[in-house]
Parts: sequence; structure tokens; C-alpha cells
Amino acid sequence: MRGIVLSGGRGTRLYPATKAVSKQLIPLYDKPMVYYPLSTLMQMGIREILVVTTPEDEERYRQLLGDGGQWGIHISYCRQPRPEGIAQALVLGRDFIKDRSVALILGDNFIHGDGLFQSLGRAGGLTTGAINFAYRVSDPQRYGIVEFDAEGRPLRVVEKPTKPRSNWAVIGLYVYDQRASDFAAELKPSARGELEITDLNQRYLDLGELRIEKLGTGNAWLDTGTHDSWLEACHYVQTIFHRQGQMIGCPEEVAYRSNF
Ligand code: TTP
Repeated sequence: MRGIVLSGGRGTRLYPATKAVSKQLIPLYDKPMVYYPLSTLMQMGIREILVVTTPEDEERYRQLLGDGGQWGIHISYCRQPRPEGIAQALVLGRDFIKDRSVALILGDNFIHGDGLFQSLGRAGGLTTGAINFAYRVSDPQRYGIVEFDAEGRPLRVVEKPTKPRSNWAVIGLYVYDQRASDFAAELKPSARGELEITDLNQRYLDLGELRIEKLGTGNAWLDTGTHDSWLEACHYVQTIFHRQGQMIGCPEEVAYRSNF
């Protein structure tokens, strides 16, 4: 499986902190934000990773992450000229993905928890269809929400519903089989001019090939997109580190444990 970290975007909600620097390069407690999603991909056993950045930021990402050899992985880079949608990463990454399965993670995505290693490992073995991860939230109006039928099968994903029919938010980690780039290239831009990842997920859902992996209560999915949620995420990493001496989002540690 190949991995893509989508690390572009404007980060306007964190202005002015992110006006001159990419949001995913600012620290989350003791490491740059992008270390966390990168470590998640590594936990899935993925060693070939493409980092998609804005044209202005590519050089800084290269300075920070290099070719990945220090962690026993290989990192390459690609530019997204404008933030034209999350699904665009799969079109830009087409040559990189080739005929492999792919895990796409957002550069500001933060997940942590005990049972996660197993579900991530399972997802890393995907060969057909797609997997979305869902997390139970108290404020479903803010997210892409999965609706389920009476048997618990996913029905549809609705972006920021005004009357949410479930509390399960889709998080920024998506796993697809080798058709993802072709499907993404067939998407039409939405009203806001973006290739919507929700539309791609809906395509797999319509084919009956989308699986939802629910993250249980022992897991944390934290949003880092606003000043308050960013600060909360910093405190979370700090608290676990102080109480347990355990690092979160540490590529060195994942590389070591995974025998990379
Ligand atoms: P968003 O939260 O939609 O955008 P943003 O983080 O740039 O912030 P803001 O709303 O404050 O302006 O994006 C979620 C993540 O996906 C974030 O890590 C940026 C990334 N992204 C891209 O890299 N390219 C894109 O085209 C889009 C839509 C998002």
C-alpha cells in the first residue's frame, strides 16, 4: 500500500499564526503537526509516502522530512497549486499510486488510542473497496457524518448536516483500492469548486464497497484546525507524555518498533 499525506490548504482559521507558514508545520506540543499523520501511515506498515504541499511550502517540507531514509521509509513530494479539494490528491498522486491500494491522510489529522494499531493494521491490508474511519462526536453539524440503515450498514455520508441522523463523523483518513485515482479523476468539482472526498466515498458506497471502521471510546480523534482545538491537542500530547512517558506521533519510535 502507498500513503499520501495531504498537507496543503490555507489554514485560514489559524490566521495569523499560519499566514506565512504551512499549518501542518507548526508544532503540536513537541513536534511538527505533520509528524502525527505521517506516524499513523507508518503504523499501517506503509513505507512509500507522498507528501502533497502548496508550491510555496514544498522546500520547507523537504528540509524537515528529507527522503525519509532516516526512518527507513521513502518520502517523495508533489505540489497542489491551489486547494481544489481533498480528492485531488489522488489525481495528483496517480503515478505514485500506480496500481496499488492507497491510504490518504490529512496533514492535520490526529488520532491516538489503544486498539488503533489493530484497526490500522487491518486497513493496511485492504485490496478491494474502501475504508472510512468514523468517530463519535458530540457536535455532528461540524463534520461529514455517516448515516446508517437499520442493520447498521452505511447509507450515505452527509457534509455538515443541519439535522444529523447520526453522531459518527468521518475522520481524515481514507483507504482505497487501486481504482481510487480513476474514480477521483471522474469527479466533477462541487459548488465550492473542489473535488470532494465525500463524493468519492459515495461512489464506493453506491457500489456496496465502502466499509466504515468505527473508532471506539478508547481512542482520541482531535481536530487541530482552530486555535482552541489546536491547544487542546497540544495538551493531550503533553498529558500522555507526562503521565505515561509515552510519545505520540514519533516517527523514530514507529520506525524502531516496526523494524523499518
Ligand atoms: P480544511 O480544513 O478544509 O482547510 P484548511 O486546513 O486549509 O483550513 P481553513 O479552513 O482554516 O482555511 O482542510 C483539511 C485538511 O486538508 C488540511 O490539512 C488542509 C488539507 N487540504 C489540502 O491540502 N488541499 C485541499 O485542497 C483541501 C481542501 C484541504
